[in-house]
Amino acid sequence: MTAASFVIPPELVTLLREAQHVAILTGAGTSAESGVPTFREAQTGLWAQYDPQQLATPEAFQRNPRLVWEWYTWRRELVNKAQPNPGHVALVTMEQRLPLFTLITQNVDGMHQRAGSQRVIELHGNINRTKRWNDGAIVEHWHETGASSTPRCPETGSMLRPDVVWFGETLPEAALAAAIEAAQMCDLFFSIGTSGVVQPAASLPMMAQRQETPVVVINPDVLPLTSATLYRIQGTSGQVLPALVQAAWPDAV
Ligand code: OAD
Repeated sequence: MTAASFVIPPELVTLLREAQHVAILTGAGTSAESGVPTFREAQTGLWAQYDPQQLATPEAFQRNPRLVWEWYTWRRELVNKAQPNPGHVALVTMEQRLPLFTLITQNVDGMHQRAGSQRVIELHGNINRTKRWNDGAIVEHWHETGASSTPRCPETGSMLRPDVVWFGETLPEAALAAAIEAAQMCDLFFSIGTSGVVQPAASLPMMAQRQETPVVVINPDVLPLTSATLYRIQGTSGQVLPALVQAAWPDAV
C-alpha cells in the first residue's frame, strides 16, 4: 500500500478541523505497523500452532494456566520491545489539537500511552497488569515458579493472570460506560484497525451513526459500506492518520 493509493475526502478534513469532540476506537491493526501481530492473522514462530482466540479465554486458563501465562509473557515481551508508529503519533497530535478527544482502544499493549496519548479508555485491559484469578485484585510483585505452574499471589496464594478481558468475560464497567457516552456525544467517530467482530466494542460505531454522527473507518482491508455517513479509507493507520492530521493542521509537525 503506497501513500498515494488512498484518498482523504476534503469534507472529512473540514469536519475534523472543526470538530468539537472526536471519539476514536482502535483495534489491533493500529499496532500492526509496530510489528505486533493482529489477533486474526497467522501467528509466527513458537506460537504458530495456537489460535489466540483459543488461548484468550477463562476456560483455556483453567485447562492449562501455564500455557496461557507463557503465551501472554511472550506477547508482553513482543509488545514492550515494539515502538509506537506514526499512526499512534498522529492520534497524539489530534488529542492536542481538538477541544475534546476520546481515545477508546481494544488494544492491551499500552502503545497509545507510550506514544504520548494522555487519556485512553482501555476496553480490554492492559497486558502489563497482572491480577488475581479469584478476585481480580491487581498484584504488582510475585515470584516466578518455573515451567510447571503459574505464579501465585504472595499474599493469598491465588493463581495470577493478565489483567485483560478474555472472550466470555465482561468489560470494565466504567470504561465501557465512558466509551458509550463518547460514541453518543461526539461529532465525529473513527474506527481504526479493527475487524469489528468483537462485541460490545463493535457496536460503538453504530451508536455514533444512530446519532447521525459521521463515522470514518480506516482499514487496509475492503470493508462493507453501510451508510451514507460512513467514510471508508482503505489504507493503514500508519499512513492514513499522519496524512489526515497533516491535511487538517498543515502546521502540525
Ligand atoms: P483483529 O485482529 O480482529 O483485526 C485487526 C484489523 O486491523 C483487521 O480488520 C485488519 O484488516 C486491520 N489492519 C491490519 N493492519 C492494519 C494497519 N496497518 N492499519 C489499520 N488496520 C489494519 O483485531 P481487533 O479488531 O482489535 O480481544 O480485535 C478485537 C478484539 O478481539 C481484541 O481486542 C481481542 C481480540 O480477540 C480480546 O483480547 C478480548
